[in-house]
Amino acid sequence: MPFRAIFIALIATVALLAREPVHTRHAMVVAQEARAADVGVAALAVGGNAVDAAVAVGFALAVTDSGAGNIGGGGFMLIRMADGRSTFIDFREKAPLKASRDMYLDAGGKMTRDSIVGWRASGIPGTVRGLEYAHKKFGKKPWASLVEPAVQLAGEGFSLSFAQARAFHEDSDLLSRFPDSKRILLNDGNFYQPGDKLVQPDLAATLERIRDQGARGFYEGITAHKLADAMREHGGLIALDDLKQYEAVERKPLTGRYKDFEIITAPPPSSGGIGILQMLGMLDDSGYERGGAGSASTLHYLAEVMRRFYADRSKYLADPDFVKVPVSKLLDAGYIAERRSTIDPERATPSGEIGPGKIAFNESGETTNYNVIDSEGNAVVVTYTLNNWYGSGVMAPGLGFLLNDEMDDFASKPGSPNMFGLVQGEANAIKPAKRPLSSMTPTVVLRDGKLFMVLGAPGGGRIINGVLQVFLNVADFGMNVQDAIDWPRIHHQWMPDKLYVEPGISPDTVALLKQRGYTVERTGGVARVDAILVSKDGWLEGGVDGRGPDGKAGGF
Ligand code: DON
Repeated sequence: MPFRAIFIALIATVALLAREPVHTRHAMVVAQEARAADVGVAALAVGGNAVDAAVAVGFALAVTDSGAGNIGGGGFMLIRMADGRSTFIDFREKAPLKASRDMYLDAGGKMTRDSIVGWRASGIPGTVRGLEYAHKKFGKKPWASLVEPAVQLAGEGFSLSFAQARAFHEDSDLLSRFPDSKRILLNDGNFYQPGDKLVQPDLAATLERIRDQGARGFYEGITAHKLADAMREHGGLIALDDLKQYEAVERKPLTGRYKDFEIITAPPPSSGGIGILQMLGMLDDSGYERGGAGSASTLHYLAEVMRRFYADRSKYLADPDFVKVPVSKLLDAGYIAERRSTIDPERATPSGEIGPGKIAFNESGETTNYNVIDSEGNAVVVTYTLNNWYGSGVMAPGLGFLLNDEMDDFASKPGSPNMFGLVQGEANAIKPAKRPLSSMTPTVVLRDGKLFMVLGAPGGGRIINGVLQVFLNVADFGMNVQDAIDWPRIHHQWMPDKLYVEPGISPDTVALLKQRGYTVERTGGVARVDAILVSKDGWLEGGVDGRGPDGKAGGF
């Protein structure tokens, strides 16, 4: 890109947006709920490392962020230690052993809503095992000291923010269907007001068992028995065996390069890392950035690489323990160059003409994200979820925690779209003990071998594109991390063949995109990305996404 164009793009950026990131000198936590962020900072302040803080934040969010923070769901933790080791802890939910391929189809073969709401929607929760796994391998502080703040927040209560009280109200149709959800989160139908205290004694008792017995206090004993009994009574599938057998697994993160950055990101069963690396591969050397951030020509190119990746996602990506995922083929430079060569620089390619790529290969699925960097330079990114807000809506009786509806991330009917409109194929069909394909994309970026940036997001199928655009805004358009997050985003997912644009994309840019052949639709928000960047002089710069409420970057 000619120097003048970079300069103009930079000036335009600085003139339009300039929100200062939060700066700290040594350590930082960015989380989407402020009290949980404070819990993490407190763990760091007493000498805990980034993994300790991540464990403490994970449990605290399960109390203070009921819609997404969880012990009844699952997720991923990407760790990059200051000594150069990096690893990925997969604590994604698994389908119960009694799950079956067509369990969400009615007699006429039509998809039901059972994968989204109610007792049958949940995969086996993975969060508690995942946090324990990370702590055993990397933590420094005693386990009990990391769970204790969550026990206190649940037992003593905390005051609800405006957004939290409103969210309970907005989702009251779902929550009022399940007695414990109604009793605890809707104040028995009387609704909480902002500022009211939410006290959760059942959850405090469940967390005490985890504090005192570790993950065994969740997957066995009172909690496991109560959960399995309730499942049996209400037609759910999770049984004692499912809980006892559940294990978190460590996987090798995917790595790749973009210009002088090294990207460390999520492997399958996330589709996110392959997405980020494929799309960066198609963008590298394309000159896509020449028009500047937000220009129609830049957005056109972004939309085309998104379209091509999501087509591949629909066919090839799934749980690698069940399906052979052709990772190296999908990330092969020659394959990526061939995909790039099909992009018309002026015109949208109709999705009908872009199937999943042909690769020689034998074929034998609400959320929150938080980031921690400690004073030694260890970095952790966690994205974990109940799937949509408040998960399946079911709160396990007497246990005080919500259960996920992660089963909807499978292809209930291969070829038909799921809740996020994602079309997925046979590879992601339901099987007992299989993990549904995910889009969660915790990512770490290095520059010259040194920690440069950590980022991740909730947002369903849009997560990958959110993470991509925030990184590119820093890497290619010179924005500070907060501006990179604030900048309006787009989303294309191959099918439906629509380009979704946030309100900040101007009407004349939309007109230019329509001229290029896009069907453009306005959308509320493309993911909610939080990030920390390490500046050249060693400051930590935290960016919090204003697309959601209550987030915080803090540290010292
Ligand atoms: O794993 C996934 O891709 C989804 N279950 C994430 C759901 C999500 O981000 C919903 N939040 N907005």
